[in-house]
Amino acid sequence: MLEFNRTYTGDNLPVLRSLRDAGVRFDLILTDPPYNLGKDFGNASDRLSLDEFVAVTRERVALMRDLLTERGSLVWFCIHRYLGYVQLLMYEAGLFYRRILIWHYANGFSRSQRAPATAYEPVLWFSRSDRTWVYNADDVRVPYKTQRVRHPVYYRTAAGERRAWRPNPGGALRSDVWSYPTLAGKRFAGERTGHPAQKPESLITDLIRAFCPKDEKGRYCGRILDPFHGSGTVGVCCERLNSQGHRIQWMGIELEPRWHAVAEARLAQVRRLAAGQAGSQGCETKPPRGAGTVP
Ligand SMILES: C[S@@+](CC[C@H](N)C(=O)[O-])C[C@H]1O[C@@H](n2cnc3c(N)ncnc32)[C@H](O)[C@@H]1O
Repeated sequence: MLEFNRTYTGDNLPVLRSLRDAGVRFDLILTDPPYNLGKDFGNASDRLSLDEFVAVTRERVALMRDLLTERGSLVWFCIHRYLGYVQLLMYEAGLFYRRILIWHYANGFSRSQRAPATAYEPVLWFSRSDRTWVYNADDVRVPYKTQRVRHPVYYRTAAGERRAWRPNPGGALRSDVWSYPTLAGKRFAGERTGHPAQKPESLITDLIRAFCPKDEKGRYCGRILDPFHGSGTVGVCCERLNSQGHRIQWMGIELEPRWHAVAEARLAQVRRLAAGQAGSQGCETKPPRGAGTVP
């Protein structure tokens, strides 16, 4: 019996099928599958022939489509080399293109004089429906770039009316380029786990904030799935948000027992911290919010 707010170890394929057959649906599938660049995850999943890569991706994209709610989104990390194939498979599955976000990082470095250094990873965003989806634009505003927009900007409408545009106190609406540093260097030593493709919590948290539905009190309350969970970053970020009062129900699946164990250890630490904070405020220590059996 599958439960929310926990990780599973094993191939995601049978788990995705049982979730689909049990009628479980997710508001957001936020995932970072192997890019097929030959990384060593402890298994062969990043070293497939092109035909295998396409077959593995096609089967899972179709299952993930079936697992989305009407307003649900699939947000899928990718790499420039294979982006075209994955995007095509999403169209083929009948999903609807919303954007390619660019995760841009400025702290990479070049190892080659034969081609420019890569400073980005594309993130495909497709929705289940072409009419309705969740994007919390106000939750992921960014600081204005110039001083000028701290003051009103006056303009005339087509009818000649003078209007003032005032900057939003929350900052500017985002573009499709999202800049976050990778976990390289001493600065992120405390966050790094040894997983060769671990994503930064800062980036994953903002993706959750952007795409997770909210309740009437403004709390994130959606169901989120990461079927390629790695070191558990999606689960960790959901748990951190839940420890701040949100009510996300999440689930992670990872093939490799080693990374599953790393995810469990990270989650235990987040929960200990949350329990400590609740304890110091005189609150009762509760089990993870939203934990329960999949209906
Ligand atoms: C790019 S990594 C994910 C890293 C993750 N975002 C993080 O921050 O740690 C992809 C992961 O998918 C796992 N994986 C590959 N094939 C899988 C499968 N069929 N089922 C479940 N997990 C799989 C790999 O073992 C690897 O850890």
